[in-house]
Amino acid sequence: MTPQEASAAAAKVCLLAPVVPVLVIDDASIAADLARALIAGGLPALEVTLRTPAALDAIREMASVPGGVVGAGTLLTPKDVEDAKAAGATFGVSPGATDRLLDACEANDLPLLPGTATASEAMRLLERGYTVQKFFPAEANGGVPALKAIGAPIPQVKFCPTGGVSLRNAGDYLALSNTLCVGGSWVAPKELVLAGDWAGITALAKEAAALS
Ligand code: 3PG
Repeated sequence: MTPQEASAAAAKVCLLAPVVPVLVIDDASIAADLARALIAGGLPALEVTLRTPAALDAIREMASVPGGVVGAGTLLTPKDVEDAKAAGATFGVSPGATDRLLDACEANDLPLLPGTATASEAMRLLERGYTVQKFFPAEANGGVPALKAIGAPIPQVKFCPTGGVSLRNAGDYLALSNTLCVGGSWVAPKELVLAGDWAGITALAKEAAALS
């Protein structure tokens, strides 16, 4: 897959809903319920971070839930890419970007939303053909003013800001012309997941899905 094809696919994922839930899952047995709760609330694109031993099993469980589009986050190495793809992930997200990681995603036909923190990183990815990128960590990098400022000289790159994004500031990011969607963990808080409060998570998802 070419970087251009990867970015076209990543844009489609980003345009499914205003928010991509970022999920850290400790117990794969709740993954399908969690996916159903988020999809029912209007958030079909789900990022499962590869930060827990349960993550790949969680992706396998979620990939079979109708209506969902399941991706793997925290991709750091070519092995992560291969494992994510084998588990059924249909897109990948990374905190930054290295040539080895980009090569692996392109070779494995896994559309990647690569992380960028600066104008130089965005330019470097743009040179390779990636026009859709993740602005990470969004709030720590200067938040909305920083992303807006990057958009002035580089308007052809569109972003999914992630990291410190919440219901409070998501609308400000979504109002930027270079933001397709935001990523965030607030729609699946640990307490609600542990309590199995799927209705509560659907309510948070609905609130997030109504953002514009
Ligand atoms: C992460 O690093 O887990 C993601 O960027 C999500 O960040 P958040 O928990 O601030 O939404």
